[in-house]
Amino acid sequence: MSQFTAFVQPEMGRIFAALGLDVAYVRAEGNTLYHRDEQGTEIPVLDLMGGYGSLIFGHNHPEIVAHARSLLDANRAVHAQFSLRGEAGRLGAALSEVVRRETSVKEPYLATFGNSGAEAVEAAVKHAELVRVRKVMALADEIAAHTEAARDAVRRGEARLDPDVGRLPAVLAHGPQADGIDGLLAAVEAHNAAAIGTRPLFLALERSFHGKLVGSVQLTYNSGFRAPFQNLGARVRFVPMDRPELLDRIADDERVVLLDTEIDQGRVRIVERDFPAITAFLVEPVQGEGGIHALTTEQGRAIRLFCNKVGTALIIDEVQSGMGRCGAFLASSLIGLRGDYYTLSKSLGGGLAKISAMLVRRSLYEGEFDLIHSSTFAMDDFSSSIAHKVVEMLEADDGQAYRQVTERGARLTGMLTDLRAAYPDIIEDVRGKGLFLGVQLRDQAQARSMVLRGSAYTGSLGYLLSGYLLRQEGIRIAPTGSAGNVLRIQPSAYLTDEEIERLRGALDRLCRILRYEDTLHLVHP
Ligand code: F0G
Repeated sequence: MSQFTAFVQPEMGRIFAALGLDVAYVRAEGNTLYHRDEQGTEIPVLDLMGGYGSLIFGHNHPEIVAHARSLLDANRAVHAQFSLRGEAGRLGAALSEVVRRETSVKEPYLATFGNSGAEAVEAAVKHAELVRVRKVMALADEIAAHTEAARDAVRRGEARLDPDVGRLPAVLAHGPQADGIDGLLAAVEAHNAAAIGTRPLFLALERSFHGKLVGSVQLTYNSGFRAPFQNLGARVRFVPMDRPELLDRIADDERVVLLDTEIDQGRVRIVERDFPAITAFLVEPVQGEGGIHALTTEQGRAIRLFCNKVGTALIIDEVQSGMGRCGAFLASSLIGLRGDYYTLSKSLGGGLAKISAMLVRRSLYEGEFDLIHSSTFAMDDFSSSIAHKVVEMLEADDGQAYRQVTERGARLTGMLTDLRAAYPDIIEDVRGKGLFLGVQLRDQAQARSMVLRGSAYTGSLGYLLSGYLLRQEGIRIAPTGSAGNVLRIQPSAYLTDEEIERLRGALDRLCRILRYEDTLHLVHP
């Protein structure tokens, strides 16, 4: 038993061993990882899993390694918390500039840095809730002032109650018959106190993945990840991606009103005011862990209009789909979807640093946020400088890297589509964007082979096939965590034609095994 299994992930260690994935990599370059066999010889593996999407420039890119070395050789101040962080500032400016260029949004975006994708999501959720709470407090103060003014006006005889009960908001009209201004305003204040106590709601899409920390896991659709911790976090409603028409119903379902008082020509009237009940709507432009599903332009537009209509924030989670992965800095810019917040991570660290960024429109930014939200390791000069280098590499030559991702992605998609045409009984769908692709395999629940039926039943088909591809083909591919029959392919922008052809051959052999249920090959000896 390896130390990994003994001291780190005992359960995963056992699964790796059962599937033949129990490999320890010792070196990596570009799209290749190396492990050693029993004789100590280095065995190359074509890595198409790409660090779960964190290696748009591959493993140990020479320019990024050289940049990291230069920082270390210069003994740069890495942990200089509570100071002006020069590299973080330059990175924040660069990120804002790229987002504005790609979205044509006029105002800048302010950056809050973290160490992981989930942390960026947590920061966006916290900031959006801070904005909501400030809105609620301002609204409550305004209404309280109106209530006092109405009470005083009636006391001084300058106003009187509107006798027409039909003009009371529905929530009062059927309640106890108000007796005088004090009775009425007491009912109004009781209603408002209850409404203000409404737990905030977040919206996310079905099949979403936004992280596994206490806050972000509430927004992750997979109940296996979320259910045990549901009592620890925010209220979330999951929306089907392909049912934008449901959004109007959700707006009505979730509408909460506060009751305000106004004096209209000497008559005290009670009017309804919308209460900010929904803190934010989170979307991934291309859902990754949930099975590689891209948002369409129409779906994006419906979500944006919904957020504008109900006055809630749109958080676009680009942790996986951003940083050039889909052929642009932001995958959302390809469908014309603009966010109030963006989250970035994975390839932002260039395959060497751990860094994430939460970007928020400056006009939304609550200044106190940087006083109440922080992380020891965030904004360090080492990670920030590497991330800045990555942004420069993506933006170089007028975005040549994005064009390369698009061209390589089209080439890879073409090969996968050919395979699907040759094996329609095995490959159900090929989808995704740029170099963020998924191959959905047909359900094997009706297979004669018990191995295939069993893996279909347990949702582990993708893991079984990943073990085969690694052991027999020297290719590393993983299934999407929440859709076990979808193989995710996320290579670097340097994917070569030879590597594409090598994958073609491997998948062709795999499809034959599945077609003829020649499953002996799949089982790890
Ligand atoms: N948001 C998205 C869209 C992600 O795909 C991920 C991670 C996260 C947030 C969390 O980032 O792991 O750095 O905390 N996705 C990985 C995956 C787990 O399987 O694609 P993290």
